[in-house]
Amino acid sequence: MLSIEEMNLYLKSNLLEKRYMHTLGVADTAKRLAKLNGVSEKKAEIAGLAHDVAKNLSIDKMREMMKENNVIISEIEEKNMNLWHSIVAPIEAKDKLGIDDDEILDAIRWHTTGKEDMSTLTKIIYIADMIEPGRNFDGVDEIRRATFDNLDKGVYFGLTSSIKILLAKNLLIDENTIKARNYFLFNPEFKL
Ligand SMILES: [Fe+2]
Ligand SMILES: [Fe+2]
Repeated sequence: MLSIEEMNLYLKSNLLEKRYMHTLGVADTAKRLAKLNGVSEKKAEIAGLAHDVAKNLSIDKMREMMKENNVIISEIEEKNMNLWHSIVAPIEAKDKLGIDDDEILDAIRWHTTGKEDMSTLTKIIYIADMIEPGRNFDGVDEIRRATFDNLDKGVYFGLTSSIKILLAKNLLIDENTIKARNYFLFNPEFKL
């Protein structure tokens, strides 16, 4: 695996400036959330750095990678190309950054939609992507506050907000996002 410095250099030269700044924001936010929630800060930082590693790949390249690696995608994933960079992220992270930690690879795979029963690290990357300091959308402050107060609550608000935005734009909603949100509501211990 590359060192953090080497990963930084790789990402700086392979992502657009704006995306690279976002990446640093996610890595830093993820590290802080890891400390608060008792997971490895190092893993969180690496996952934060790596989550958008595939963001600059062309649609054709990503299609080819999915085919070569026999990645099966759903009908909705097929249609929503915004999700593709997260679907191929584990392949690219392994190949270009030498990451082979399954927890990290799972976290970067699900950073766009979330999924049912996420690990703490996967929740952290999902929500850090949404609330890093460079993000600015209606309601982001409330989601930030909730996340630093209670990770599950923050992730739940994040999933709900993302569904609302998709509804308002008449876009498809990935079933993993619905399942991720329902999973919290099914948990009798989950309190809002
Ligand atoms: Fe992303
Ligand atoms: Fe991102």
